[in-house]
Amino acid sequence: MTTVRDSSVQDAAASLRAAMVGALRDMDAITSERVAAAIAAVPRHLFAVGEPLEAAYAANNALVIKRGLNGAAISSLSATHIQAVMLEQAEIEPGMRVLEIGSGGYNAALIQELVGDGGKVTSVDIDPEIVARARTCLDAAGYDRVKVVLADAENGVPEGAPYDRIIVTAGAWDIPPAWVDQLSARGRIVVPLRMRGLTRSVAFDRDSLGLASHSYRLSGFVPMQGSGSHSERIVTLDEGVALRVDDESQQFDVEALREALRSPRLERWSGAAFDLPDELELFLVTSAPRVALLHASEELVERGYFAPSAAKGVPALIRGGSFAYRTKRPNEETGGFESGVFAHGPEAEAVAAQYVDLLRRWASDHCRRGAARLGYIPKAAGATEPSQGLVTKRHGVVTISWS
Ligand SMILES: C[S@@+](CC[C@H](N)C(=O)[O-])C[C@H]1O[C@@H](n2cnc3c(N)ncnc32)[C@H](O)[C@@H]1O
Repeated sequence: MTTVRDSSVQDAAASLRAAMVGALRDMDAITSERVAAAIAAVPRHLFAVGEPLEAAYAANNALVIKRGLNGAAISSLSATHIQAVMLEQAEIEPGMRVLEIGSGGYNAALIQELVGDGGKVTSVDIDPEIVARARTCLDAAGYDRVKVVLADAENGVPEGAPYDRIIVTAGAWDIPPAWVDQLSARGRIVVPLRMRGLTRSVAFDRDSLGLASHSYRLSGFVPMQGSGSHSERIVTLDEGVALRVDDESQQFDVEALREALRSPRLERWSGAAFDLPDELELFLVTSAPRVALLHASEELVERGYFAPSAAKGVPALIRGGSFAYRTKRPNEETGGFESGVFAHGPEAEAVAAQYVDLLRRWASDHCRRGAARLGYIPKAAGATEPSQGLVTKRHGVVTISWS
């Protein structure tokens, strides 16, 4: 029975939802009427239990559901703008069968709206508490047709396969064979995939070699747990200075790099404009064989030992015991910025020249949104090493080309 109080809450929620849909359209997270209608329909506050209505429908509305022993988030109700972007990438049609990896309930409800009565939604989570919570919230919001399964998604959910769409809502380092095997012939996987430390939500369709990207977007998610989890290696070079190394195959001469830190800084400028930093980062990390992300503390940046780019993490090219990373300075003529390079070590000149060349190539040939074409080639059954590719993973390789 709807009480007066319930109906006023529902009215308030509906108007906050309508405002949220408007804001998501303004930021181009929603680009289709179907996704707009789904987000307008699902009462998100019923999946944000215990939160004020305003928090459930705020513009930046990610909510942590559970933290691990070290205090880091391991489950969250993802921000609606990320969910909207991924649903747009997925292009879900009525009647489709969809697997969602990582449950919270809300996104599965959105997907149920998109597939309609003729479709089927399965959502899988590795954590029994999250599965129970998702089930309760889905039932309370009237989405009892969504199936919620407790399992490690490394093996997919074979009993519901094949899937027309697999939407992954935890940060993945690799694409397990089960996901490809359980995808229908016209299937698409939308996955926040980590490549050399950078995560992009990639929509992959099947192609003759494996998977080919349809689109990619900036993205961030709590990490995948279970047998597919993968941690970056943190290589400390000095107090407050470290490299984050994401590729298992990359080994560096750490002692020589520590020595390089003590050498004078070489500065080189590219003459090229600094623009679209997230696209540039992807280009840099995937365009050289030996790359890691360099991090320096705010204190070292403030004291002038490192460029500000290093405070957030910046792609560093490594060559023996030398390294180079990106910086920028104002360009008085254009009003924008010029990109440049700082380098250290005995081969500073050579590694700086290689970096400057990449910055110029980026600016002249590829500086626009969506210029990368990503592919995933699964390891042939029985093969021990992938035959080709740029970023080597456990189950295959990620390839990348730039138009
Ligand atoms: C960001 S949350 C999911 C958000 C959710 N889709 C929503 O509607 O807001 C990520 C979830 O992935 C789950 N997860 C992590 N690794 C997993 C794995 N190997 N298999 C299944 N679920 C996993 C976590 O337990 C967590 O609940």
